[in-house]
Amino acid sequence: MNMEEKQEKVLYSAVQPSGNLTIGNYVGAIRNWVKLQHEFTCFYAIADMHAITVRQEPAELRRRTLELAALYIACGIDPEQCTLYVQSNVPAHAELAWVLNTLTYVGEMERMTQFKDKSAKHPENVNMGLMDYPVLMAADILLYQTDLVPVGIDQRQHLEITRDIAIRFNNRYGETFRIPEGYIVKEGAKINSLQDPLHKMSKSDENPNASVYLADDRDTILRKFRRAVTDSDNRVIAAEDKPGVTNLLNIYASFKGCTIAEAEKEFDGKGYGDFKLAVGETVADVLAPIQAEQKRLLADKAYLAGVLGRGAENAFRAARRTLSKVYRKIGFYRGE
Ligand code: TYM
Repeated sequence: MNMEEKQEKVLYSAVQPSGNLTIGNYVGAIRNWVKLQHEFTCFYAIADMHAITVRQEPAELRRRTLELAALYIACGIDPEQCTLYVQSNVPAHAELAWVLNTLTYVGEMERMTQFKDKSAKHPENVNMGLMDYPVLMAADILLYQTDLVPVGIDQRQHLEITRDIAIRFNNRYGETFRIPEGYIVKEGAKINSLQDPLHKMSKSDENPNASVYLADDRDTILRKFRRAVTDSDNRVIAAEDKPGVTNLLNIYASFKGCTIAEAEKEFDGKGYGDFKLAVGETVADVLAPIQAEQKRLLADKAYLAGVLGRGAENAFRAARRTLSKVYRKIGFYRGE
């Protein structure tokens, strides 16, 4: 299918280049984008402006941005089918965020779970950007007149505030933004930490054994799963009082492409040792070709620069249309 034949519906999503991506980012987000790119008009961004809300080493941020672009493509995102770009290359994001700030209340931002978590984690750097993070995210989404936003469960609150802000703007200034919906797949929507399975797996976790990174080699992956926290009853079933095993079953099912029930059946009568090895092998088998392709792409910087340049131009044009409309509606003088 070529770009013109696709549905008019617009899809938007992004990942921050703020650390090593985990298998949570893959199954909760990027993998789903691949399927959706053939059906919708898709914008996939690298959210570097969000990333600087916590301190980043400049050289590392630049390197990670390119690595993430290569990873998107290695995972199956086709830059001919969608718009792949770097957020800071399109100034309209910052411009719309400023306008939306004037329709957002400080109290609403203070109540955001992610803001509270990150402030607790970085008490020395509770900056305005961290607090304003959801407004920038709303700007990302609303600029492209987005219908659907494929994300993991942890982003649900940010989507709700995006909808609230859009509705508020439309009520005050007249119909301007399309109201987006979340697209949260059930399987893999929340992959939890291997060491603390009641909490989500995160790229910023300090314990490297808690997260499986997309860049981990086979031995590391097998070792991390071998060490994953389970319990003592040795039965491979999903249950509320077995968060470790349930998380591993969820990971296995998402990587194998089966249901949790099918996975339970497969490991019926087997112990945790066999089970953990199978989970590790399944994950490693999926990641190996992605890693090889990412490496190949990273060797071709000119190709990546071309993709991101074209992506930024496309995004710039689409974003400008919405921003001009916004500026008109709010009464900014535009010359004549
Ligand atoms: P980020 O970079 O934290 O995560 C990127 C995507 O991965 C999902 N995810 C997970 N899914 C399942 N299990 C996990 N353990 C897990 N960890 C992360 C996230 O839900 C997300 O979909 N604010 C966003 C980036 C962003 C954005 C946007 C997203 C900026 N602008 C506009 C959508 C639309 C973020 O921090 O994602």
